Amino acid sequence: MLRLSRRTLLPMLASAFSLRPQRASAAEYEFPPDFVWGASTSAYQIEGAVDADGRGKSIWDVFCHTPGKVKNGDTGDVACDHYHLWRDDIALLASGGFNAYRFSIAWSRILPAGEGAVEQRGLDFYDRLVDGLIARNITPWLCLYHWDLPQAWQEKGGWLNRDVAEKFADYARIVARRLADRVQHWAMFNEPNVHALFGHGFGSHAPGISGLPNMLAAIHHQNLAAGRALQALRAERATLRLGTVSSVQPVRPSSDRAEDRAAVARFDAMWNGAILDPLFKGGYPAAVADDFAPLIVNGDLQTIKQPVDFLGVNYYAPMYVAHAPRSLLGAWFGATPPGMRFTAFGWPIDAGGLTDALIRLRDDYGNPDVYVTENGACYDDPLGADGVVHDADRIAYLREHLAAARAALAAKCNLRGYFLWSLLDNFEWAEGYSRRFGIVHVDFASQKRTPKASYRWVEDLIARRVSAGTP
Ligand code: FCB
Repeated sequence: MLRLSRRTLLPMLASAFSLRPQRASAAEYEFPPDFVWGASTSAYQIEGAVDADGRGKSIWDVFCHTPGKVKNGDTGDVACDHYHLWRDDIALLASGGFNAYRFSIAWSRILPAGEGAVEQRGLDFYDRLVDGLIARNITPWLCLYHWDLPQAWQEKGGWLNRDVAEKFADYARIVARRLADRVQHWAMFNEPNVHALFGHGFGSHAPGISGLPNMLAAIHHQNLAAGRALQALRAERATLRLGTVSSVQPVRPSSDRAEDRAAVARFDAMWNGAILDPLFKGGYPAAVADDFAPLIVNGDLQTIKQPVDFLGVNYYAPMYVAHAPRSLLGAWFGATPPGMRFTAFGWPIDAGGLTDALIRLRDDYGNPDVYVTENGACYDDPLGADGVVHDADRIAYLREHLAAARAALAAKCNLRGYFLWSLLDNFEWAEGYSRRFGIVHVDFASQKRTPKASYRWVEDLIARRVSAGTP
């Protein structure tokens, strides 16, 4: 039996697909002039400084310090020490030419007990960060929740307790009162589906609980919380650009067998539809509506279906699923087709899946303004003897996915920008520091940052696009 974590489910058949790093070709910078070029990070994955300035514990602090939960016993206690080194990090964004940066706020820095007393020093940190970004002409994109619920709230039931939705809206309001005069772009959640499935269905992520009913509750209550926070932020300031971020991946059958094709419908409805349908259509997909029905209280679906100014799409790989009657969802990851390439994480590489995801948003969800808010690849990335990380595989991945983004633009998808994951190598959840996604190498012992070849490639792409005054 495979160990049930998303990190280990897919076969580790990484095939090194090396392309010599080169400059982008002319066609590769054909993006609209107002296209947003960003990089993404999240609080727990980079900040460290877990005891600084009154920060309260989050579910990830507790999970990491529980033996056996995270590979090699790694924790986010120090991570990239971004809490202290943020000036260096935004200098890297600026010199790379990025005009946007998506980061997340640690709820437990602002409200150490999850509610009640506000920790001004926590707000001060993000205040400095925002001012620093603006001073360098980088637009801040703020995400309110990237999986790090205050532990104090977990002890009251966390996402299983629907009252958390109201507390989340209170937290959103507090952050907005400090930052909304300078931050225009607000994402409510990061991947509520992944947080629900791996944190509350499987238990391989914090808070480490499992079972289908818990997963369903975590989805519904995050949806509700997003709705309440969207209402609260609109009421605070009508001019904000508000949205949320989900993991949107095409789900494909693992074989031609009818039962695998049927498995796709349920898996897709849980992964993609259970977030997108309530938000854009006001109800859960038919394939899973009965699962969610007991959780829905009068008015919930109206609250969740708030108008949004954008949707953030995190895309990494298509998912191949098979009929699996004894698994959590009755459907689970299965074999991938022959001949696929994989990242070092074992995730299949298919940039066409990004185009498919964006076309689906065009056709089934009213073609909202979309930003790819995460896309990137994990490779082992040794520092070469010359002091350089020659991550040609990552360059190839980025190049293919940017071409896929251009294909979606050509197909009239309202794609407005692209944020790569990630600026820095960082704490990759249950995999600890063993998985590197950054375009900047981090030596976790010395905290030295070294831009990789992929950083140079992106820097060149953005710079030449700007200097070419592309259409
Ligand atoms: C996404 C997460 C992000 C990171 C990437 C690799 O699902 O949002 O924090 O872990 O995967």
